[in-house]
Amino acid sequence: MNSDQIATLRQLMEYEAGRTAPPEGFPDLPDLPAGRYTDQRFYDLEQLHIWRKSWLLAGHIDEVPEPGCFRLWETAGQPVVIVHADSGAINAFYNTCSHRGAPVVTEQSGKRARLTCRYHGWTYNHDGGLVGIRDPEDYRNLDFASRSLRDIRCERFGNLIFVNFDDQAPTLLEWLGPIADEWQEFQFDKCRLAARHIFDLDCNWKIAMEANTEVYHVRSIHAKTVSPILDDRRNVNTFYLNGHGRMVAPIPENVKGLGVLGMPNTNEVETVGEIARTCTQSYGIFPNWVSPLSARAIPPLLFWPNGINKCRLETWTLAPAWDNGPKPDMWTVNDGESLNEVLLEDTEFGAWIQKSVESYGFRGVPLSYQEARIYHWNQFADRLIGIENIPPELRVAQVIGEEWIYPNDPRVELARAALA
Ligand code: FES
Ligand SMILES: [Fe+2]
Repeated sequence: MNSDQIATLRQLMEYEAGRTAPPEGFPDLPDLPAGRYTDQRFYDLEQLHIWRKSWLLAGHIDEVPEPGCFRLWETAGQPVVIVHADSGAINAFYNTCSHRGAPVVTEQSGKRARLTCRYHGWTYNHDGGLVGIRDPEDYRNLDFASRSLRDIRCERFGNLIFVNFDDQAPTLLEWLGPIADEWQEFQFDKCRLAARHIFDLDCNWKIAMEANTEVYHVRSIHAKTVSPILDDRRNVNTFYLNGHGRMVAPIPENVKGLGVLGMPNTNEVETVGEIARTCTQSYGIFPNWVSPLSARAIPPLLFWPNGINKCRLETWTLAPAWDNGPKPDMWTVNDGESLNEVLLEDTEFGAWIQKSVESYGFRGVPLSYQEARIYHWNQFADRLIGIENIPPELRVAQVIGEEWIYPNDPRVELARAALA
């Protein structure tokens, strides 16, 4: 982040603290329909479009560190195997033999010179090419070239491995847009995978994620944990293209460190700038990534559907090199035994809210200006699904216009006028 961007953010923080109403020109947000959390039609549309067309964090290079290493990944509901090829490329394939669909790997991870299907022995190389079959004399003109493993778009951001099931999707860098530049200072190509765990929750995946997409809840459910270290009235929300968002809120000056959040004792990434050192900042990457970023750790939370009223929360800790001793883990206790205090607070109401949204009494969700990142996410979700594909009663109106999408921001002028 350059000095102009930092100065603008500081002005916006003071503007947010001083305003007595939502910013002039910011739209009123219509209620989110309750059916977006409960209606099977909407769930099916999410499967067909959101999960199929978005870039999804699937792995880390530390999980497939050498040529021949592979890892099974099924969290997105598709059978995927991620393979480190001899060329150094990281490939992703459907774990589906081109003969009769048996898996080419059945272990969670391992290392192999070739991927050999255990049903009838068809063999593939690390680039998915079919290189051998048993009893070839029993086929006439079997075209090996057209019987490769079906590949899946797979791109890296530093050491992170993302996949996309849509051959037509933009590149990962296009998908991230300006965020890719903003993240340069965190050196994703150096981050190590320190911890990765998964927890089952009894609510729709968006209910769980939305608890991490606004700071309106902080003074209530995090009164003793997050609230003392986060100046929520100075929080600045930014809306990016493709449904992404960011919050930046200063850490009050009288607070030393972030010990309450279990900030690990890792080395610092020296290139990390002033905002990440003096503020809590968190990015939401569409569809399911929420992560604070700091000089000591990048700990993404990922939210995955597991049926319409169940989800899985995946907790990651990425960190630069750490000294000997336990691996840093920002989110769990005893290496994944349970969520930490902050996440227990964030997930406390999930099952209750799910019961509420399924009840006869629940109609919709009136979001405040503070919660507008949730609305922005939903607007983009509808565009990705295709608005015409969504039953009218389940749509959200497209009320947040382009003028609010970064780098556009009418609040910058309002903030300067307020300071003048
Ligand atoms: S299904 Fe794989 S070799 Fe037959
Ligand atoms: Fe929270």
